[in-house]
Amino acid sequence: MQRIAMLASGRGSNLQAILDAIASGTLPAQVVGVFSDKPGAAALERVPADLRWSADPKSFASREGFDAALGDAIAAVQPDWIVCAGYLRILGDAFVERFRGRLLNIHPSLLPKFRGLRTHARCIAEGDREHGASVHFVIPELDAGTVIAQARVPVHPGDDADTLAARVLEVEHPLLIAVLRLAVAGRLAERGTNVAVDGHPLFTPLLLDSAGALRSPDAGTPL
Ligand code: GAR
Repeated sequence: MQRIAMLASGRGSNLQAILDAIASGTLPAQVVGVFSDKPGAAALERVPADLRWSADPKSFASREGFDAALGDAIAAVQPDWIVCAGYLRILGDAFVERFRGRLLNIHPSLLPKFRGLRTHARCIAEGDREHGASVHFVIPELDAGTVIAQARVPVHPGDDADTLAARVLEVEHPLLIAVLRLAVAGRLAERGTNVAVDGHPLFTPLLLDSAGALRSPDAGTPL
């Protein structure tokens, strides 16, 4: 059974979606730890106490010191995959290199649009008609790793950042689960700055369809 470590800073709805998928038998994996930079994060409460790790970065002398402690705690649970889901602290280069190739992030925008924070408000301010979420491999540059898959939602007239965030979150959960199903089946790999699925390079991100399946935008067949 593949082992997943989760990083989260907040409420942990993506973590809960993964726990639910595992419980219902649609994701053959186990969550082996939840790691947070916010000791009070609601995400931590979603797993038994022995699976929780948290520390306040302010109690470390440096960013590198915190990252090393986090990295050691993660390495100790021997994860196959490490998933950032609402982890809002920048990961240093050494941490990323330590886990490179098995480090995934879900980001609430159609990358490369809107890297960083406040993605929903920025999307509305730009007047975009479409928004969404992306899952990508993490590289040292923020939100810049190769995108594996995306889910798209419309922006409705009258949306504010909260209504749009809620619409995006609804597709984040099936998107992340669908990517993790590929990952735990051994079908997903980071090759340099590219992504390979079933050994073939991916030239455009996979797209989540309305049935929750991932499709290549060109070929159209569900994976
Ligand atoms: C999600 O929308 C996720 O995409 C976003 O934080 C939220 C966490 O929700 N992540 C980022 O903004 C990363 N830059 P959750 O705690 O309920 O899973």
